[in-house]
Amino acid sequence: MKNIIAFAGTSSKQSINKQLVTYASSLVENVNTTILDLNDFELPLYSIDLEKEQGIPENAHKFLAYLKSSDGLVISLAEHNGAYTTVFKNLFDWMTRIEGKLFFNKPMLLMATSPGGRGGLTVLEIAQGRFPFHDGNIIEVFSLPFFGNNFSEGKITNDDFDEQLKNAVQQFQKSL
Ligand SMILES: Cc1cc2nc3c(=O)[nH]c(=O)nc-3n(C[C@H](O)[C@H](O)[C@H](O)COP(=O)(O)O)c2cc1C
Repeated sequence: MKNIIAFAGTSSKQSINKQLVTYASSLVENVNTTILDLNDFELPLYSIDLEKEQGIPENAHKFLAYLKSSDGLVISLAEHNGAYTTVFKNLFDWMTRIEGKLFFNKPMLLMATSPGGRGGLTVLEIAQGRFPFHDGNIIEVFSLPFFGNNFSEGKITNDDFDEQLKNAVQQFQKSL
């Protein structure tokens, strides 16, 4: 059976992106899914000096090992001020110091959601532009706007968005 790694790019305990990533990954059939939480991979803020003095922290190695051992990635990025959250960017930066091509060409379903109408499209655009330089193999992209109106009790409640996500998951599934 294939192994999927799913995570949200945030440290929020009530994360709406974690809720979305949990739902989306539950739609992928016949796979073992591991949902990671960035809170379990605490890291100091990246600095070149810290790296020189102390090396690369174990948690960056651990997270990278999860990515490397997977057959596919389901990621939902939270958007802070039109960009990655600090916690995601920090993890990303640390991991690139170990392996620049940190996504290892694993098929990726890339998503974002936010309470507002753009549904995290700005951070999605940034990731779509950047991840390919790190061997990101983005199969499908999905954004859910107005999370509060369109998601409830672990599921997307708007039929059009739900169908859009299910189509994206189907394409992702085929690529595994
Ligand atoms: C510092 C900060 C900046 C934010 N900036 C944006 C933004 O640029 N665009 C947006 O859609 N939402 C923005 N939000 C709202 C987040 O989308 C919202 O907090 C969301 O719940 C974050 O996802 P998460 O729950 O998965 O952490 C911001 C929130 C914070 C705390």
